[in-house]
Amino acid sequence: YTFFEKHQSLKGKKALVTAGPTHEAIDPVRFIGNHSSGKMGFAIAESLTSLGAEVTLISGPTHLPTPASVKRIDVTSAKEMLNATDGYFDQADIIVMSAAVADYTPVTVANQKIKKKDDTFQIALQKTTDILATLGKRKKAQQTLVGFALETNDEIENAKGKLSRKNLDFIVLNSMQDQGAGFAGDTNKVTVLSKDGTQIAFALKSKREVADDIVHLIVAHQSPTDV
Ligand code: CTP
Ligand code: CA
Repeated sequence: YTFFEKHQSLKGKKALVTAGPTHEAIDPVRFIGNHSSGKMGFAIAESLTSLGAEVTLISGPTHLPTPASVKRIDVTSAKEMLNATDGYFDQADIIVMSAAVADYTPVTVANQKIKKKDDTFQIALQKTTDILATLGKRKKAQQTLVGFALETNDEIENAKGKLSRKNLDFIVLNSMQDQGAGFAGDTNKVTVLSKDGTQIAFALKSKREVADDIVHLIVAHQSPTDV
Protein backbone atom coordinates (compact mmCIF):
# COMPACT_ATOMS: atom_id res chain seq x y z
CA TYR A 1 0.00 0.00 0.00
CA THR A 2 1.02 3.58 -0.55
CA PHE A 3 0.00 5.96 2.26
CA PHE A 4 -2.90 7.25 0.13
CA GLU A 5 -4.25 3.81 -0.76
CA LYS A 6 -4.02 2.62 2.81
CA HIS A 7 -6.04 5.51 4.16
CA GLN A 8 -8.61 5.42 1.37
CA SER A 9 -9.07 1.65 1.11
CA LEU A 10 -12.72 1.84 2.25
CA LYS A 11 -13.59 5.09 0.47
CA GLY A 12 -17.07 4.88 -1.06
CA LYS A 13 -18.03 1.99 1.24
CA LYS A 14 -20.88 2.23 3.73
CA ALA A 15 -20.54 0.51 7.09
CA LEU A 16 -23.04 -0.27 9.84
CA VAL A 17 -21.77 -1.02 13.34
CA THR A 18 -23.75 -1.91 16.48
CA ALA A 19 -22.22 -1.49 19.93
CA GLY A 20 -22.92 -1.53 23.63
CA PRO A 21 -25.52 -3.31 25.74
CA THR A 22 -29.29 -3.08 25.50
CA HIS A 23 -31.51 -2.22 28.44
CA GLU A 24 -34.85 -4.01 28.73
CA ALA A 25 -37.30 -2.09 30.91
CA ILE A 26 -38.98 -3.81 33.87
CA ASP A 27 -40.75 -0.70 35.21
CA PRO A 28 -40.09 3.07 34.93
CA VAL A 29 -36.98 2.87 37.11
CA ARG A 30 -35.49 -0.60 36.43
CA PHE A 31 -34.09 -2.60 33.56
CA ILE A 32 -32.28 -5.83 32.67
CA GLY A 33 -28.86 -5.09 31.20
CA ASN A 34 -25.32 -6.40 30.89
CA HIS A 35 -21.74 -5.22 31.42
CA SER A 36 -20.92 -4.33 27.81
CA SER A 37 -19.08 -0.97 27.70
CA GLY A 38 -19.40 -0.46 23.94
CA LYS A 39 -15.64 0.14 23.64
CA MET A 40 -14.99 -2.65 21.10
CA GLY A 41 -17.74 -1.48 18.73
CA PHE A 42 -16.76 2.18 19.02
CA ALA A 43 -13.13 1.21 18.22
CA ILE A 44 -14.33 -0.66 15.13
CA ALA A 45 -16.35 2.37 14.01
CA GLU A 46 -13.23 4.52 14.46
CA SER A 47 -11.05 2.09 12.55
CA LEU A 48 -13.52 1.88 9.63
CA THR A 49 -13.79 5.69 9.34
CA SER A 50 -10.01 6.04 9.42
CA LEU A 51 -9.93 4.02 6.16
CA GLY A 52 -12.53 6.27 4.53
CA ALA A 53 -15.76 4.29 5.12
CA GLU A 54 -19.03 6.15 5.78
CA VAL A 55 -19.97 4.74 9.19
CA THR A 56 -23.32 4.57 10.97
CA LEU A 57 -22.97 3.48 14.59
CA ILE A 58 -26.07 2.21 16.36
CA SER A 59 -25.33 2.28 20.05
CA GLY A 60 -27.04 1.00 23.15
CA PRO A 61 -26.59 2.94 26.40
CA THR A 62 -22.87 3.76 26.84
CA HIS A 63 -20.79 6.58 28.28
CA LEU A 64 -18.54 6.91 25.26
CA PRO A 65 -17.97 9.96 23.04
CA THR A 66 -18.95 9.63 19.37
CA PRO A 67 -15.89 9.04 17.15
CA ALA A 68 -15.19 11.89 14.68
CA SER A 69 -17.14 11.70 11.36
CA VAL A 70 -19.29 8.80 12.57
CA LYS A 71 -23.08 9.07 12.38
CA ARG A 72 -24.42 7.83 15.71
CA ILE A 73 -27.92 6.61 16.51
CA ASP A 74 -28.73 5.92 20.15
CA VAL A 75 -31.13 3.16 21.10
CA THR A 76 -32.11 1.54 24.40
CA SER A 77 -33.77 -1.84 23.91
CA ALA A 78 -33.19 -4.87 21.67
CA LYS A 79 -36.40 -3.99 19.81
CA GLU A 80 -35.19 -0.45 19.13
CA MET A 81 -31.83 -1.78 17.96
CA LEU A 82 -33.55 -4.19 15.56
CA ASN A 83 -35.70 -1.39 14.10
CA ALA A 84 -32.71 0.97 13.73
CA THR A 85 -30.43 -1.60 12.03
CA ASP A 86 -33.18 -2.70 9.67
CA GLY A 87 -33.17 0.66 7.87
CA TYR A 88 -29.40 0.66 7.24
CA PHE A 89 -28.59 -2.97 6.46
CA ASP A 90 -29.46 -3.17 2.78
CA GLN A 91 -27.30 -0.16 1.74
CA ALA A 92 -24.34 -1.24 3.88
CA ASP A 93 -21.29 -2.93 2.34
CA ILE A 94 -19.89 -3.83 5.76
CA ILE A 95 -21.92 -4.77 8.82
CA VAL A 96 -20.30 -5.41 12.21
CA MET A 97 -22.65 -6.41 15.02
CA SER A 98 -20.68 -6.10 18.22
CA ALA A 99 -23.61 -5.13 20.45
CA ALA A 100 -24.39 -7.32 23.46
CA VAL A 101 -28.10 -7.61 22.72
CA ALA A 102 -30.39 -8.95 25.46
CA ASP A 103 -31.63 -12.46 24.65
CA TYR A 104 -34.79 -12.00 26.73
CA THR A 105 -37.02 -9.05 27.57
CA PRO A 106 -39.85 -8.68 30.11
CA VAL A 107 -43.20 -9.79 28.67
CA THR A 108 -44.83 -6.68 30.13
CA VAL A 109 -43.43 -3.39 31.43
CA ALA A 110 -45.13 -2.11 34.58
CA ASN A 111 -46.48 1.44 34.26
CA GLN A 112 -45.64 2.21 37.86
CA LYS A 113 -42.65 1.32 39.98
CA ILE A 114 -43.13 -2.23 41.24
CA LYS A 115 -43.42 -2.28 45.05
CA LYS A 116 -41.66 -4.92 47.14
CA LYS A 117 -43.98 -7.49 48.63
CA ASP A 118 -43.26 -11.22 48.83
CA ASP A 119 -39.87 -12.76 49.63
CA THR A 120 -39.48 -14.07 46.11
CA PHE A 121 -40.41 -12.34 42.89
CA GLN A 122 -40.44 -13.53 39.29
CA ILE A 123 -40.41 -11.67 36.02
CA ALA A 124 -41.75 -13.41 32.90
CA LEU A 125 -39.37 -12.97 29.96
CA GLN A 126 -39.73 -13.58 26.26
CA LYS A 127 -37.01 -14.14 23.67
CA THR A 128 -35.90 -11.12 21.65
CA THR A 129 -35.43 -11.28 17.88
CA ASP A 130 -31.86 -12.27 16.96
CA ILE A 131 -30.89 -9.16 14.96
CA LEU A 132 -27.79 -10.71 13.41
CA ALA A 133 -29.55 -13.91 12.34
CA THR A 134 -32.46 -11.91 10.89
CA LEU A 135 -30.18 -9.68 8.84
CA GLY A 136 -27.95 -12.63 7.87
CA LYS A 137 -30.90 -14.17 6.04
CA ARG A 138 -31.00 -11.29 3.58
CA LYS A 139 -27.24 -10.78 3.18
CA LYS A 140 -26.09 -10.23 -0.40
CA ALA A 141 -22.86 -11.59 -1.90
CA GLN A 142 -21.08 -8.21 -1.90
CA GLN A 143 -21.80 -7.58 1.79
CA THR A 144 -19.36 -8.49 4.55
CA LEU A 145 -21.20 -9.51 7.71
CA VAL A 146 -19.30 -9.81 11.00
CA GLY A 147 -20.72 -11.06 14.30
CA PHE A 148 -19.31 -11.52 17.76
CA ALA A 149 -19.55 -14.44 20.14
CA LEU A 150 -19.09 -14.42 23.86
CA GLU A 151 -18.43 -17.90 25.24
CA THR A 152 -17.28 -19.42 28.49
CA ASN A 153 -17.02 -23.04 27.32
CA ASP A 154 -16.68 -25.06 24.08
CA GLU A 155 -15.69 -21.71 22.59
CA ILE A 156 -14.59 -22.69 19.07
CA GLU A 157 -17.43 -25.13 18.51
CA ASN A 158 -20.06 -22.64 19.72
CA ALA A 159 -18.57 -19.83 17.64
CA LYS A 160 -18.50 -22.03 14.52
CA GLY A 161 -22.17 -22.83 15.08
CA LYS A 162 -23.06 -19.12 15.24
CA LEU A 163 -20.92 -18.37 12.16
CA SER A 164 -22.85 -20.80 9.97
CA ARG A 165 -26.31 -20.45 11.60
CA LYS A 166 -26.27 -16.66 11.22
CA ASN A 167 -24.76 -16.70 7.69
CA LEU A 168 -21.68 -14.64 8.69
CA ASP A 169 -18.41 -14.05 6.86
CA PHE A 170 -16.49 -13.67 10.14
CA ILE A 171 -17.14 -14.25 13.80
CA VAL A 172 -15.02 -12.63 16.49
CA LEU A 173 -14.72 -14.88 19.51
CA ASN A 174 -14.24 -13.12 22.85
CA SER A 175 -12.94 -15.41 25.51
CA MET A 176 -14.05 -14.68 29.05
CA GLN A 177 -11.18 -16.86 30.30
CA ASP A 178 -8.39 -14.49 29.30
CA GLN A 179 -7.03 -11.90 31.70
CA GLY A 180 -7.34 -8.43 30.21
CA ALA A 181 -10.05 -9.44 27.76
CA GLY A 182 -13.75 -8.78 27.79
CA PHE A 183 -16.38 -6.16 28.39
CA ALA A 184 -15.03 -3.43 30.59
CA GLY A 185 -11.31 -2.89 29.92
CA ASP A 186 -9.33 -1.21 27.17
CA THR A 187 -7.70 -4.42 25.94
CA ASN A 188 -9.04 -7.53 24.34
CA LYS A 189 -7.89 -10.91 23.05
CA VAL A 190 -9.90 -12.44 20.24
CA THR A 191 -9.93 -15.31 17.78
CA VAL A 192 -11.49 -14.61 14.40
CA LEU A 193 -13.10 -17.52 12.53
CA SER A 194 -14.02 -17.07 8.90
CA LYS A 195 -16.63 -18.68 6.70
CA ASP A 196 -13.86 -20.22 4.56
CA GLY A 197 -12.57 -22.13 7.58
CA THR A 198 -9.56 -20.05 8.61
CA GLN A 199 -8.97 -19.29 12.27
CA ILE A 200 -6.70 -16.51 13.55
CA ALA A 201 -5.84 -16.17 17.24
CA PHE A 202 -4.67 -12.62 17.91
CA ALA A 203 -2.56 -11.53 20.87
CA LEU A 204 -3.82 -9.43 23.78
CA LYS A 205 -3.80 -5.81 22.61
CA SER A 206 -5.70 -2.54 22.87
CA LYS A 207 -9.29 -2.59 21.62
CA ARG A 208 -8.31 -0.11 18.88
CA GLU A 209 -5.57 -2.51 17.67
CA VAL A 210 -8.01 -5.44 17.83
CA ALA A 211 -10.43 -3.31 15.79
CA ASP A 212 -7.71 -2.66 13.17
CA ASP A 213 -7.00 -6.43 12.92
CA ILE A 214 -10.70 -7.14 12.31
CA VAL A 215 -11.00 -4.28 9.81
CA HIS A 216 -7.98 -5.55 7.84
CA LEU A 217 -9.77 -8.87 7.36
CA ILE A 218 -12.88 -6.98 6.23
CA VAL A 219 -10.87 -4.91 3.71
CA ALA A 220 -9.41 -8.07 2.20
CA HIS A 221 -12.86 -9.66 2.03
CA GLN A 222 -14.36 -6.57 0.36
CA SER A 223 -11.69 -6.45 -2.35
CA PRO A 224 -9.71 -9.72 -2.41
CA THR A 225 -7.53 -8.64 -5.35
CA ASP A 226 -6.29 -5.61 -3.40
CA VAL A 227 -4.08 -7.55 -0.98
N1 CTP B 1 -27.15 -10.94 18.60
C1 CTP B 1 -28.15 -10.22 17.96
N2 CTP B 1 -29.41 -10.19 18.47
C2 CTP B 1 -29.72 -10.87 19.60
C3 CTP B 1 -28.73 -11.62 20.26
C4 CTP B 1 -27.44 -11.63 19.73
O1 CTP B 1 -27.88 -9.59 16.93
N3 CTP B 1 -30.98 -10.82 20.07
C5 CTP B 1 -25.82 -10.96 18.00
C6 CTP B 1 -24.74 -10.25 18.80
O2 CTP B 1 -24.66 -8.88 18.41
C7 CTP B 1 -23.48 -11.00 18.40
C8 CTP B 1 -23.98 -12.38 18.08
O3 CTP B 1 -25.41 -12.28 17.90
O4 CTP B 1 -22.88 -10.46 17.24
C9 CTP B 1 -23.70 -13.44 19.10
O5 CTP B 1 -24.15 -13.06 20.36
P1 CTP B 1 -24.04 -14.12 21.54
O6 CTP B 1 -24.74 -13.57 22.75
O7 CTP B 1 -22.63 -14.57 21.68
O8 CTP B 1 -24.85 -15.38 20.92
P2 CTP B 1 -26.35 -15.81 20.92
O9 CTP B 1 -26.68 -16.21 19.53
O10 CTP B 1 -27.22 -14.78 21.56
O11 CTP B 1 -26.34 -17.14 21.77
P3 CTP B 1 -26.04 -17.37 23.37
O12 CTP B 1 -26.15 -16.03 24.08
O13 CTP B 1 -27.07 -18.36 23.80
O14 CTP B 1 -24.64 -17.94 23.42
CA1 CA C 1 -26.81 -13.87 23.63
